[in-house]
Amino acid sequence: MAPSSSSLSPLKVTMDLHLHNRQKLLSSLRQHLSLSSRPLHGFLLFEGGEEQTRYDTDHGELFRQESNFAYLFGVKEPGFYGAIDVATGDSILFAPRLPDEYAVWCGEINPPSFFKEHYKVSTVCYTDEIATVLQQRYQGSGKPFLFLLHGLNTDSDNFSKPAEFQGIDEFDKDLTTLHPILTECRVIKSELEIAIIQYANDISSEAHIEVMRNAKVGMKEYQLESMFLHHTYFYGGCRHCSYTCICATGNNGAVLHYGHAAAPNDKTLEDGDMALLDMGAEYHFYGSDITCSFPINGKFTSDQLLIYSAVLDAHDAVISAMKPGVSWVDMHMLAEKVILESLKRGHIVVGNVDDMMAARLGAVFMPHGLGHFLGLDTHDPGGYLKGPERRKEPGLKSLRTARELQEGMVITVEPGCYFIDALLLPVMKSPETSKFLNQEVIKRFNGFGGVRIESDLLVTASGCYNMTKCPREIQEIEAVMAGAQWPAKKSSTHVGIGNGL
Ligand code: GLY
Repeated sequence: MAPSSSSLSPLKVTMDLHLHNRQKLLSSLRQHLSLSSRPLHGFLLFEGGEEQTRYDTDHGELFRQESNFAYLFGVKEPGFYGAIDVATGDSILFAPRLPDEYAVWCGEINPPSFFKEHYKVSTVCYTDEIATVLQQRYQGSGKPFLFLLHGLNTDSDNFSKPAEFQGIDEFDKDLTTLHPILTECRVIKSELEIAIIQYANDISSEAHIEVMRNAKVGMKEYQLESMFLHHTYFYGGCRHCSYTCICATGNNGAVLHYGHAAAPNDKTLEDGDMALLDMGAEYHFYGSDITCSFPINGKFTSDQLLIYSAVLDAHDAVISAMKPGVSWVDMHMLAEKVILESLKRGHIVVGNVDDMMAARLGAVFMPHGLGHFLGLDTHDPGGYLKGPERRKEPGLKSLRTARELQEGMVITVEPGCYFIDALLLPVMKSPETSKFLNQEVIKRFNGFGGVRIESDLLVTASGCYNMTKCPREIQEIEAVMAGAQWPAKKSSTHVGIGNGL
């Protein structure tokens, strides 16, 4: 393996990021309350994540903060609560009162003053004081009022968990106002958030290139995963990934969520395989989500070139068309159309491309959505908070948003083309759709797997900015795999919104 190095050093993040996030939420909420002539008092109350142990054992899984809590407070420790006073804007953290034993096994027990200074909040108390502290600080009349977080995540179909604590029955509760307002705050990223997502992209792009350079026939897929994890952690300080690495080679590239426990990135890399590597590091809670596809032996065959170019053309066409006001559903259709046109030129499909689109043939080759919001979560929430409802047609129903693009959104662009028997075989049998497929040529792609190219895009005032810095052109990939320098110039770690990039 070639010796590795990095042009990056871990990004310094200040708690101003979370102060800004709290101010943004408070201002949106106050505006909402004023518009509905409601009083400006009460508390927004949040429960942070709890440490989990493995089943019935005492093995503690590495804790990662719940994303809404991370957004507002940046607290890395488990067991905290946080409140924001609607009347004064004060932010209060409630820390768990730790047993003396903690000092023996886990280290120094920090006092509230430490957390107040570190997390830049107005006050820090203990979690067993929540009811008393909030009662004392309440400035309204009648029972004190809590806004709690309760709402649907449209990616997971799970509901967020409203805070619970001893004494909550003494408070009036609103379970509907907070969730949509907080979720919408997360959709549009601040400059401070963008800087972290850019950093996660920079270190992950670098790690992808490291893997690309060092992948060799005979290795195991998990060795590619290991190289990525090492690079982003050793050089970038990224302890977490945004999601489980998908390191698919050969036919595994057609398994969209490959890399899970039952398919654990354990195939041997073979000469002639394509690799489809979907890996993104997380830094200070914010993620990246990048997919690179390349031939393991460093040289594209003509079939690999055909499919790769189809996907790259779709990736580039979407990025060229992206700007505020553009519908994400239209971008998905654009990607499908570009891919089908390429497949037609390659004699894989036959007939009129508009007819294929109407028959939803695009979803046979790209069953997933074109892309999703990215931030604290890989599939950041808010995709269906505004705008059109989720479509029902194949492919379109998998879109994680149908919204129009807005300046400040960060969204992945990840077209793909896969040869998935479970989708191709029924289409080949159906009289309405079999006419579109050149079955002889498709046989040639049996075992091909798939290609996906995924970049993270910031929507700017006039277009978009690609935060991902991986080689994408065929020549670039072959050159980098043969040892050429990449990137030619250093990428920025701080990108301003609206600067026309
Ligand atoms: N790239 C991983 C995912 O979107 O699920």
